[in-house]
Amino acid sequence: APASANAGLRIGFTPIAANSLDTITVPAGYQWRVLASWGDAILPGGTAFDPATRGTAISQGLSIGDNNDGMSFFSLGADHGVIAVNNEYANYEYLFVNGRCNSIEDTRKAQAAHGVSVFEVRRMGGVWKLQPQARLNRRITTNTDMRLSGPAAGSALLKTQADPTGTVALGTFNNCANGRTPWGTYLTCEENFNGYFGTAESLPQNVAENAAFKRYGISAKGAGLNWHPFDGRFDLAKNPNEPNRFGWVVEIDPMDPTSTPIKRTALGRIKHENAEVVVNADGHVVVYMGDDEKGEHIYKFVSAKKFDAKNPKANRDLLDEGTLYVARFTTVDGKAQGDGEWLELTHGKNGLTAEAGFKDQAEVLVHTRLAATVVGATTMDRPEWIAAHPTQAQVYVTLTNNSDRGTKPNQAVNGPNPRAKNVYGQIVRWTPKGNDHTANQFTWDIFALAGNPTLHKDAYAGSANITPDNMFNSPDGLAFDRDGRLWIQTDGDYSNAKDFAGMGNNQMLCANPVTGDIKRFLVGPVACEITGMAFTPDHKTMFVGIQHPGEKLAASHFPQGGDAVPRSSIIAISRRDGGVVGA
Ligand code: FEO
Ligand code: CA
Ligand code: CA
Ligand code: CA
Repeated sequence: APASANAGLRIGFTPIAANSLDTITVPAGYQWRVLASWGDAILPGGTAFDPATRGTAISQGLSIGDNNDGMSFFSLGADHGVIAVNNEYANYEYLFVNGRCNSIEDTRKAQAAHGVSVFEVRRMGGVWKLQPQARLNRRITTNTDMRLSGPAAGSALLKTQADPTGTVALGTFNNCANGRTPWGTYLTCEENFNGYFGTAESLPQNVAENAAFKRYGISAKGAGLNWHPFDGRFDLAKNPNEPNRFGWVVEIDPMDPTSTPIKRTALGRIKHENAEVVVNADGHVVVYMGDDEKGEHIYKFVSAKKFDAKNPKANRDLLDEGTLYVARFTTVDGKAQGDGEWLELTHGKNGLTAEAGFKDQAEVLVHTRLAATVVGATTMDRPEWIAAHPTQAQVYVTLTNNSDRGTKPNQAVNGPNPRAKNVYGQIVRWTPKGNDHTANQFTWDIFALAGNPTLHKDAYAGSANITPDNMFNSPDGLAFDRDGRLWIQTDGDYSNAKDFAGMGNNQMLCANPVTGDIKRFLVGPVACEITGMAFTPDHKTMFVGIQHPGEKLAASHFPQGGDAVPRSSIIAISRRDGGVVGA
C-alpha cells in the first residue's frame, strides 16, 4: 500500500500476553459475553441443551449446530440483526455420550449438527442477545433441500439415482468460512466434504481409480464419520456421484427462511475456505477463494454481468455466469515479492480440452483442481481465508502451514511459500494491476511470515513484524473491518511447547496493513480455534467464534466452567467505554 494510505489508522488497545487459560482474554477496557452456543434452541419446539444426552436428532435440528465457523451479520436496525453462521463439523467426543456414531439416529443427529444456523439478535441494555424463535431463525443441515445452478448444473457428473436431473441437491456440510454479497445474501463454503463418504463394499474400478476422487481425497475408507453404513447416500459404491454435489459455494437468503439455498457451480468445486466478494470499480463482481489443502491453489471468479445497486433483484444470479481463474505466482529466487497472473479456467482454453479429460465446462468446474494443474497454477501452503481491503485494491490471504512444502516434487519452495516443512504459516498479499480486480496481472509480497523469534534465528524466526510479544502460528481467519484494520485468527498448535513455545492458546490479532504492526487482541480457551468474525454496523460490537474448545477431550469447560461440557460458542466483544472495537 502507498505509505500515505490509512496513515491515520488507529489500533488503540494495549496488546495482551499469550496464555494457556481456559477462558477468553481481551485487552484492558474491553469486555466479552457469550451470545450463543452449540445446542441453544432457536426454533419452536426446541429444548435447552441437555448435558446428560447432548440432545437428539430432533432437538439438534431445532438448535444451533456444532463448531461455529465463518459468520456474517445482517442489520435490521441499530439494535437488531440476523446472524448466519456455519456449523463446520461435529465433535463426536462431545456430541455423543459414548463418542461414536453407531446408528441411523446418531447419523441424523450428526447431520443436524452440521450446516448453517441463522438467528436474530437484539441489543437490549447494551447487550446483544439471541432471540429464540424469532421469525428469521432457521436451521440448514445436511438434509435441507438445495438447488444446483450455474454451468455444471444438470451435468452427468452431478446426476444420482435420487436426482436424475443433476439439479436438486440435499444439504450442505463441512461449511468452513463464508462470504457476504452486496445484495444481502450469505455465502457458505463447503470444505472437507470428502471424508463423509465411504463404503464397506469393494468399489468398481472406475470409481476406485478415478483421478478426481484421488485428488479430492475421496476413498472407500472415508474419515471415520461413519454415516455411510446408515445412510446410503454416503455409500460410494451405491452413489458414486454424490460427492460431486459437494465442494461448492452455497448462496443463502437470510431474510427469507423459506428460500432454497443455491449451490453456485460457476465458482468451482474445491475444498472452499471462504468467498471474499468485491465489487470492482466497473461493477463486475469478483470473488476470491482459497482451496485449503497442502499444495492447492487460489482462485478468482469474475461475474459476466455487473452489480446494480438500484435493482437488487437483478443481482440475484450474478454468481451463475462468469469466468473462473486460478493464480500463478512468478517467483525470483530469494525474493519475497514478485508478479503473478490469473489463468483462465474455461473449456477449450489453456489446454482444457476433451483430450486433457474435460468434455465441457461442467467437467472443468466439477474437477476444478485437475484443471488448475493443467493450466499451471502455483501450489500454495494451504490457502485459508482471503480478505480484501475495504477501500484499496489490495487482497490478503492466510497460508496456514504446510508440512509437505519442500518434500514433494510439485511443492518445491517458492516465493510466496518460502519455507520447507512450514509449521508457522504466512500472510501474502497482492495488488491487481491498475487497481482493477478483473485484471489478469498482479504484484505480490509477503505481509507477515509467522515464526518464533525466541527459538530461531533463520527464516523460522519469522518476518521483522513478528516479535516475542505477538508471535502466533497457523493464521486462518482473516478479515478487514470498515476502517482498514486487518484482523487475524489462528487455528494452530496450542501446545505452547517446542516450536510453539510462548504462543499459548489460539488467538486473534490486529494488524496495521500499512506499517505491518501486529498486536495480540484476544486469547481463546483451552484447545479451541478462533474462527469467524462479524461487526455490527456501528463497529461497537465484534462477534467472534470460539470453535471446538476442549477438542479431543482436552481439559476445557468453556464457556460455563465448573465441570460443564465444553461448547463451541459465539462471543460478543465490546469496549467498556462504548467506542469502536480496535480503535
Ligand atoms: Fe475449515 Fe481450512 O479451515
Ligand atoms: Ca479455517
Ligand atoms: Ca485451519
Ligand atoms: Ca476449524
